[in-house]
Amino acid sequence: MKMKISLVDLKAQYKNIKKEIDYAIQSVIDKTDFIMGEEVVNFENSFTQFIGSKYAFGVSSGTDALHLALCALNVTHDDEVILPSFTFTATAEVVVWRGAKPVFVDIDEKTYNIDPVKIEKVVTKKTKGIIPVHLFGQPADMNAISKIAMKHKLWVLEDCAQAHGAQIKMNQWKTVGSIGDISCFSFYPGKNIGAYGDAGMLVTNDSQLAQKVGLLRNHGRKEKYTHLIVGYGNRLDTIQAAILSVKLKYLKDWNIKRVKIAGLYDYYLGKNKNWILPLVVTWAKSVFHLYPIRVKNRDKLREFLKTKGIETGVHYPIPLHLQPAYRFLGYKNGSLPVCENIAKEILSLPIYPELQENQIEYIVKCIKDFFS
Ligand SMILES: Cc1ncc(COP(=O)(O)O)c(C=O)c1O
Repeated sequence: MKMKISLVDLKAQYKNIKKEIDYAIQSVIDKTDFIMGEEVVNFENSFTQFIGSKYAFGVSSGTDALHLALCALNVTHDDEVILPSFTFTATAEVVVWRGAKPVFVDIDEKTYNIDPVKIEKVVTKKTKGIIPVHLFGQPADMNAISKIAMKHKLWVLEDCAQAHGAQIKMNQWKTVGSIGDISCFSFYPGKNIGAYGDAGMLVTNDSQLAQKVGLLRNHGRKEKYTHLIVGYGNRLDTIQAAILSVKLKYLKDWNIKRVKIAGLYDYYLGKNKNWILPLVVTWAKSVFHLYPIRVKNRDKLREFLKTKGIETGVHYPIPLHLQPAYRFLGYKNGSLPVCENIAKEILSLPIYPELQENQIEYIVKCIKDFFS
């Protein structure tokens, strides 16, 4: 029987926590503390505990979090910032906003994350920092990246937009976001923990960066009409914070469910010449924001699955170095071959905590039918 399965299903999640969410929203309305209300502070405190960082600042989006981080790090005109080409445009966009130059690096063929071996090759006198992205929920190799950063005196800004709760084995297991100098999270609705609109978070252990970020996100404001620096209107809405506080209690459980779903896909799909499954490494614990497989005839499979009622995604069809927006940087086809090839083959299958085993079986059956 034909099923209808979306890539993510936010309605299913809302149905399960409707009472708590509705109550949280109503409470903010009752208190009318819409801007920088007590729920913002509550959520920030809970989030620092979840990540294992000292400071957290709720902001208006993941993109704004990245931008404020670069402001706090004093990134300026002519600086160079190293980042993977295989990521969402926001990671690079904010570097350009600062007048700095994004220097794209190719990815590791297996983890889809920035390849540390290729980072050192592009470090110059102008390089100021590295932005590793923990793509699809899988941690980037922070051991190697931290060593390179230390050697060249670079800062590290973790883009954790897709990896809330993912862990990596350093000298001990650490949650991503607690390793770099400063880290950014997105709470875009479809993320592992998503707001009901735009929202983001910056976390850091560095008191100086924390002080700057605290000012920058709120018009450089110390008190109501005392502005110490020129800042931005990038606060997290209290209503979003209240929603996120409810959701944070479920995040660990939701991540466990995602890992289980990934395991079921692995099990039902199995090893096969027609596809490559996501790599599971011993040194990291992915939170499977996405479950991307690689297939040669991706677009045809995608069309076929659509006829079977299955929605899929492509993250990402064009690496950033080949996007029209970054043409001015002078990259060409073939500049970063690993991500260029992977972009042609990658396909995200439906994944969300409420996805049922019979739905996974149906998706896998349809994939197998396509190749039979
Ligand atoms: C890797 C990455 N970085 C940054 C962002 C930007 O986050 P936001 O959409 O909350 O601005 C996203 C969101 O899609 C992302 O996936």
